[in-house]
Amino acid sequence: MSIEKDKLLIPTEYSYGYLRCPPKLEDDVFVVALHDRTPRGRLNESGAIYLAANGIPVATVRPAATLSQPQLAKAGDVTASAAIEFRYSDVKRILQEHGAWKEPGIIRLECVDPARSRVAETALFALPVGMGDPVPSDDNIIRVAGKQPGFDFRVSGACWYTMINDVVAAETGAALKKDARILDWGVGCARIARYFIETGFTNLSGIDIDQYNVDWCLANLPGADFRRCDFDPPTEYEDASFDLIYGHSVLTHLTSQSEAEWLAELDRLLAPTGLACLTFISDVGMYLNHNVKLKPEPSLYAELWHTGRIDFGAMRVGVDKDRPGYYRVVAHSHDYVLREWSKVFDIVRIIPGFANNQDAVLLRKKGLASE
Ligand SMILES: C[S@@+](CC[C@H](N)C(=O)[O-])C[C@H]1O[C@@H](n2cnc3c(N)ncnc32)[C@H](O)[C@@H]1O
Repeated sequence: MSIEKDKLLIPTEYSYGYLRCPPKLEDDVFVVALHDRTPRGRLNESGAIYLAANGIPVATVRPAATLSQPQLAKAGDVTASAAIEFRYSDVKRILQEHGAWKEPGIIRLECVDPARSRVAETALFALPVGMGDPVPSDDNIIRVAGKQPGFDFRVSGACWYTMINDVVAAETGAALKKDARILDWGVGCARIARYFIETGFTNLSGIDIDQYNVDWCLANLPGADFRRCDFDPPTEYEDASFDLIYGHSVLTHLTSQSEAEWLAELDRLLAPTGLACLTFISDVGMYLNHNVKLKPEPSLYAELWHTGRIDFGAMRVGVDKDRPGYYRVVAHSHDYVLREWSKVFDIVRIIPGFANNQDAVLLRKKGLASE
């Protein structure tokens, strides 16, 4: 059976965006690469979309081919429809002129139309300034994110921290309280959790099967509860311990049996009015993925579509050294998530492009939808 990439169903406009970084802040040139899936191709109209930094326009969209470094507009073999290039030094100057500069702080970057509406929920990025130190070593990062520059790692964590807060605020109508009880499930070396700590959240717990990275968190990030958890639930926490549980790229690594057991455990840990936000790689994410391991063959798409779930096999990065083979590479279709995970949780919605090539699903406890 042959399936062509272009027949993929991509559910929202501007679903995917990437913030491409230079090796360090001072190297100045950044690119937001946007993947426009609309027939209208609105992104290609120069000037139709702006980048707003802390609410202030700082740059406009342009065709990807005209970038000073056009390769920054590529994700794997997929080229962005359009891109916004900006200089950090210009953003800093413009924000200072408007009295909107804060250091240390996280600069909020949004792609907006002339009416200042964000063009897509996930066209939201963030740049940490004077935050995100210390950066974990390559040995730590490689276990959770592959080989990548420390600055990219810091920036991606800031982007996803911002997305999580934004999605929670959109759902509840209020910013997450600083004393909210938060669980980072699969915390790794705290790529995201560190920003909750640095911005004053006082009740952050982070758990992971990987003692190596838990030890790094304990040694480098005081002010939070980091613990190793077992490969199998239950955890040590009491029922309803958390107001927010997020897990970035954990369900992308479990067998279907572990997945079911851990979803039940997360449900046990979630407070009645709590929210869970869990990412997964969908068919769309596979299409845009630049990870060679996930490079989809037509037959793999077929399997994903027919079963809704595909396990590419074991991934050997060391996190499962006490149970080799536990850690997999897994993708799920939207249909599968809606069908299977709704047996455990009420599904609020799926957010395509939540974290680069990963979608997220926002969950509540069953039968307790917000009032
Ligand atoms: C791709 S990494 C992502 C780490 C982190 N969330 C981040 O975004 O940097 C997946 C993490 O999940 C952890 N992990 C895998 N299975 C787990 C489980 N059942 N419970 C907790 N952590 C798990 C791994 O050890 C690894 O640190």
